[in-house]
Amino acid sequence: MDLLSLVLYLLLTITLFQVFHSLVRHSKTRSKLPPGPAPVPVIGNLLKLGDKPHKSLAELAKTHGPIMSLKLGQITTVVISSPALAKEVLQKQDLAFSTRFIPNALQAKEHCKYSVAWLPVPNQWRSLRKIINSNIFSGGRLDANQTLRQQKVEELIAYVGKCCEDGVAVDIGRAAFTTSLNFLSNTIFSVDLADISHDSTREFRDLVTNVMLEAGKPNLVDYFPVLAKIDPQGIRQRLTVHFGKLLDLFGGLIDERLKLRNLQKANAENDVMDILLNRSHEIDKTHIKSLFLDLFVAGTDTTSSTIEWAMAELLQNPENLKRAKAELEQRIGKGKLIQESDISELPYLRAIVKEAMRIHPAVPLLLPRTVETDVEVYGYTVPMGSQVLVNAWAIGKDPSIWKHPTTFMPERFLESEVDVRGQDFELIPFGAGRRICPGLPLAIRMVPVVLGSLINSFDWKLEGGIAPEELDMEDKFGITLQKAQPLRAIPFHM
Ligand code: HEM
Repeated sequence: MDLLSLVLYLLLTITLFQVFHSLVRHSKTRSKLPPGPAPVPVIGNLLKLGDKPHKSLAELAKTHGPIMSLKLGQITTVVISSPALAKEVLQKQDLAFSTRFIPNALQAKEHCKYSVAWLPVPNQWRSLRKIINSNIFSGGRLDANQTLRQQKVEELIAYVGKCCEDGVAVDIGRAAFTTSLNFLSNTIFSVDLADISHDSTREFRDLVTNVMLEAGKPNLVDYFPVLAKIDPQGIRQRLTVHFGKLLDLFGGLIDERLKLRNLQKANAENDVMDILLNRSHEIDKTHIKSLFLDLFVAGTDTTSSTIEWAMAELLQNPENLKRAKAELEQRIGKGKLIQESDISELPYLRAIVKEAMRIHPAVPLLLPRTVETDVEVYGYTVPMGSQVLVNAWAIGKDPSIWKHPTTFMPERFLESEVDVRGQDFELIPFGAGRRICPGLPLAIRMVPVVLGSLINSFDWKLEGGIAPEELDMEDKFGITLQKAQPLRAIPFHM
């Protein structure tokens, strides 16, 4: 039997099983399921997802409401699309919804067994979050290593200066990725993982991008768990290779450091790597490698794509760019680099970052969650084992909350207290509740510093004489929402 026949045979068996199962089990609870589109046999509503699930789910929510249920193959998926319901799920009933729904592909290299992003909340997850919150992302720690990040901004601006002299375009996403990567690698193990003026970041970036794309791809196995062994799209297998490369890289860096510490016969605490190695009673090498994998995968692509989207919006909206440049010139001085301590003095720059995160949230459906028992929400039942998605992208575009929701208008945040820190459910690019992004304190320093420095040091025009209004703003769905066409812009001095 070839693979296709086997898959078809299995799907047929599943259909029969499903029909029987739904007749027996769901006869009672089905009426309490949130409303949703009628499923077709076997595949349910899978075809409704398309290649941009954030958009198709937002469209469906207009008909079926802010809490809706879909049948994706065998899996019931509940989608949340309003601030009130997001607050219910992420804050009021946070504990019930804090377990992750683990995509099958994340079982590659058994990563999900050690990963802070995928472990269930009790025990291991709690201690990992405690370790990273106090040793990596606390205000004191971040203040202590900000000069390292400042150097990376200087290198970025020197590289852009060279492109300016040569009159060549900068790939903003790539440059921002290298900078974010080196921000992180310097914060964590005091070394650069990439050289901005060479293509050495390429492989790492391709690895991270591929991890995000593969992990975000609709995978048949997630909808028909019975196919898990076959892995028909090969997603888990490809992730095994990508994870293997990343884990080897981090394993090598840990071994080098252990050797150095042995030679020096000292357990210094110079950086995050030292701190973690000094806590070997709390965290072992396997967990450290997985933690680094999580931090680099979750922290680089999200940060650099946010910078790229914000820059794209500014280049498409020259009036906003002009106002941002005027604020920087007035408060910081033309041509100067932005320091992390300057951010509080730059309300318009902060508003630009929020507006970019509202329109282009880096993780549009947050990370999927599940429930371990049936949970009641607004009179509906979210059944045990279902996948729960919060559509942060749709919430950021809701016309009942946001005036002109698709228009880039940073001004809307100048008179508003709404912030991204997980308290205002109309704007949740970092999620909320106990599983809120732990990297938030670092991200809200990195994004404005890089963006502000790029626009304060140079004037910009789009490559190929493209007019601002012609800039392609299409996105590409993965776990992170990338710009489909990389932003390429030429720096110059007026
Ligand atoms: C603009 C930048 C970033 C955005 C928009 C972002 C967004 C998110 C979102 C939406 C989640 C899921 C939250 C939820 O399910 O409620 C998340 C989780 C996570 N993020 Fe970020 N992130 C960013 C930067 C970072 C950075 C810089 C790091 C670390 C260096 C990081 C590490 C993580 C980790 C480890 C998790 C999993 C947390 C858990 O499940 O307990 N992120 N992030």
